[in-house]
Parts: sequence; C-alpha cells; structure tokens
Amino acid sequence: FELERPENEPVLDYAPGSEKRQELKEELARLREQDPIEIPLYIGGEEVKTGDLVDIRCPHDHSILLARYHRAGAEEAEMAVEAALEAKKSWNQLDWEDRVSIFERAASLLSGPWRATVNASTMLGQSKSAHQAEIDSACELIDFLRFNNYFLSQLYSNQPASTETEINMIEYRPLEGFVFAVTPFNFTSIAGNLPGAPAVCGNTAVWKPASSAIYSNYYYFKLLQEAGLPAGVINFLPGKGREIGPVILGSEELAGVHFTGSTSTFREIWSQVGQNIENYRDYPRLVGETGGKDFVIAHESADPDELMTALIRGAYEYQGQKCSAISRSYIPEDYWSDMEEELLQKIDNLTMGDVEDFSNFVNAVIDEAAFEKITEYIEDAREADEAEIICGGDYDDSEGYFIEPTVILAHSPRYRTMREEIFGPVLTIYLYDEESFAEILEICDETSPYGLTGAIFARDRQAVDLAREKLTYAAGNFYINDKPTGAVVGRQPFGGARASGTNDKAGSRWNLMRWLSPRTIKENL
Ligand code: ALA
Repeated sequence: FELERPENEPVLDYAPGSEKRQELKEELARLREQDPIEIPLYIGGEEVKTGDLVDIRCPHDHSILLARYHRAGAEEAEMAVEAALEAKKSWNQLDWEDRVSIFERAASLLSGPWRATVNASTMLGQSKSAHQAEIDSACELIDFLRFNNYFLSQLYSNQPASTETEINMIEYRPLEGFVFAVTPFNFTSIAGNLPGAPAVCGNTAVWKPASSAIYSNYYYFKLLQEAGLPAGVINFLPGKGREIGPVILGSEELAGVHFTGSTSTFREIWSQVGQNIENYRDYPRLVGETGGKDFVIAHESADPDELMTALIRGAYEYQGQKCSAISRSYIPEDYWSDMEEELLQKIDNLTMGDVEDFSNFVNAVIDEAAFEKITEYIEDAREADEAEIICGGDYDDSEGYFIEPTVILAHSPRYRTMREEIFGPVLTIYLYDEESFAEILEICDETSPYGLTGAIFARDRQAVDLAREKLTYAAGNFYINDKPTGAVVGRQPFGGARASGTNDKAGSRWNLMRWLSPRTIKENL
C-alpha cells in the first residue's frame, strides 16, 4: 500500500506583471489594511480567549499592527493536554488513509486557494521577501505534508519475514500519550511540520508557536481546520514558554517533544524532562533541531563566481536567520585578493527595506531582542583588535529592525564571531595563509560546538574528499560547491548533530519513526 512518490511543489516566481504577483500584492494589502485581527487559542477545537492580549506588529514597520493574540497560561496548558488526550481516542482509530487524506487536502489548499494568504502573512509577520516566503510557507510546507504521507506509507509497508509456520508483522502504533511541538519563527514550514509529522502518524499534539510567528501560524492553523483536521488533534497554544512549558513537560502523558529553536531552550527542555523522568509512563522522545555556526570553506581551486553567489545568498537571504545560514567562511588569502572588491561591492548593492517592494533582497530582523543581540556583535567587532568590519555595519530600528548585510574580517580563526551563533545578516571571514588547507579543516571542525550545515568549494577532487573526511561530524548537511541553505524535502533530508540537535532529519522516514512505537506480533500457524 505504498503511496506514489510525490513531486516537489514547483516554486512560483512572482515575475513583474504576472497574475500571481498581482494576487500576492493584493493579499498583502488586504491583510495590512484590515483591522487588526484577534487570535484566540484553539483547544479541543474551541476558541479560547484569555484576555491577556499581546500586539503583533510587522518587524519592518512598527506602525503596522497586524493582530493581537491571546496568551495562554498554565491553566490553558493543562486544558490543551487534556484536549489532545481526548482527541487521541478517535484520531488513533481512524484508518491511516483517512489521516493521510486530511493532510493531502491541506497540501492542496496551500498549493491553491490559501497560498497567497499563508505567504502574505509570513511576509508581513516574519519580514520575509516574496521568494523566501514562497519557498518556505508554500513549497516546503506542501512538500512536508505530501512527503510525510509518502514516507509513512513506506514505513507501514516495511514488514518482517514470515515462514511456513509463523506469521510476523509490525504494527506501527503511534506513541502513547501526546506530543509537545515547540516551533520557531524562521520557517512557517517547520512550524507546520513539527505538530504535523507526529499527527499524521496517529498522535495528537499541543503546539506552541514562536511568539514572533503567531500571525502566519494562525492562518495555517485555520487552513488545517478547513482541511478537516478533527478538533483537538493539534491544539494551538501561543504562550510564554516559561509558563506553559513546565506544565506540559510535567504531564505523565508526555510522549515526545518535537522542537526547533535555540540550543539553550532545548537543553532546558531536556533537563526538565530529566527531572520528571520518574513520573512518565514512557521515556519521552526528544527530537530537536537547534543552533548552528554554519560554514563555507574555500579551497584555492574553487570557482570564484560560484563561491560569491553562495556567500551572498547563503549568508544574507532572510537576513541570515535560517538555521542553515552561512555565518563563517575560510578563504585562502591569495584567492581573496582577487575577489574582495567584487564581493564587497555586490553585498553593498543588496537592497534593503519593506517586504511589499519585491525588489528588496533584505528585510528586517525578527524583533527587538534579535536586533539587540546582532548589533552587539557588530559593535564588538568594531572595537576588537582581532576583527574589523569591512562591509555594512550600520543599523536602524526607528521604523523597523533593519541591519545592513555585514562582513567582519577576523584576524583570528577563534574570534567570537567565528565561534558563536549570531542568527543575523553577519558573515565573518577568516583568510588563511599560514595554515594549510588540512589545518583549516581541523580548525573549522573544532572551533564551534555545532554540527548543522557547511560547504566546501573546490574543483580539486582530493580537496573535496579530504574535507568530507575531516568534517564528518561538523555538518549534518554537507554541501559540495553549493550554499549550505535551501534543503529540499525528499532530496536533502535536513538536520545536524552535536549542539545542533538530534539529527532526526525533518521530512524523512527517520523523523516519522520517532513518532511511532512499533509492536512486533508473531502468530503460529
Ligand atoms: N531547511 C532549511 C534550509 O535548508 C533550514 O535552509
């Protein structure tokens, strides 16, 4: 009963003068001009309003109030757990084909009538350009939905051998209990996938969206309702992690956590689960994708045009706020002198501003905390002896949280911005001359605790092979002559190890296995 392998959703290009561009522009204007919407919680399919209202504004324009959301507290967290457990009783009993068909319907709605709304709300709420929204909140999310269905059908088909005297089978049960999905601001697709993947396997979930992505996440939740997702299968619970987290993690019915976000928050979750370990019926599955210090290493044989394009796109698309974004690069000193001027000119020319002007390549960073953190790194580099700013470095939060695409030249491969995650439009470059290529590979491997993405640029095959061998654990997604961002579902399963997470590859069979508890059945004939 294996489903047919889906095609990846084609990326629309929103070319000037196209109908799709017009439609998206109109949707942006409609959402921006409508009265601010009120976003409730959804618990067991019911709207819940706590009255603890929080404003949602555009990161690129503080004057635009998009919505107010009701913030959940401990009481609503308990209600959401109860609702998830109640819904599980019937969700679990549905044929898997019925579950899959609801998510297939969600994919069709997102591919068609809901595409402009989910894209426009991602653009306005998370300050994404049209193209970045399209590859995330439309294409990747549709792919997650369709490929999860397909991978699940493959898993179910995977059965052990029987003999003439016995029949053996595996029953792919969902976990016993509920799953807690904690989702990030930077990808609407990941926000949809973290509760969605456990749910298609027959689990129910409590979903805590990132407070800075509630606007688009709410529209996606409405889409799921329209697709026919039964009440309580996914419970939408915006709230403060510190208040609702301990209640949910303290439940004896916690079966798993599906998380994307910061390393420190995931460690905190892990430690709370550890403290509660005696209280759970099962060992909760902890699946997390966390921080990164993603790298590009250039060998002297690298193609300079390919390298420049990768550095610009990999470091500055979505303001460097992809978990996969390039934030450090090692380049041979001689090689650099030939490309420096052209690269810095190109970065300098990147246009920055509002998302509704589709020619802007760079928009705003997500919120005040991000703005403060990123600009602190820039100021540190301005003052430091071990570094200098060679491009950008200006910022302004008077209208929105704008930070220029910035390049820091580090004089030491261990300068702070070569080691620590910044999560913004800041690329640090280290020029190697004294160190050999092999030494640089070792330095790259040991300077950061992370292991998410990285790339090698080289035409020399031996250099590629050496990098691949020496950097075995430095990146869970390793790219050869390509930028380390933009993984496509079904083609580059995504995730990393070390301090970057549990490497359970989003949108893959291995990820789905974490939401299943197989039962082996043997029957004698
Ligand atoms: N999956 C996202 C990327 O590869 C994070 O850029």
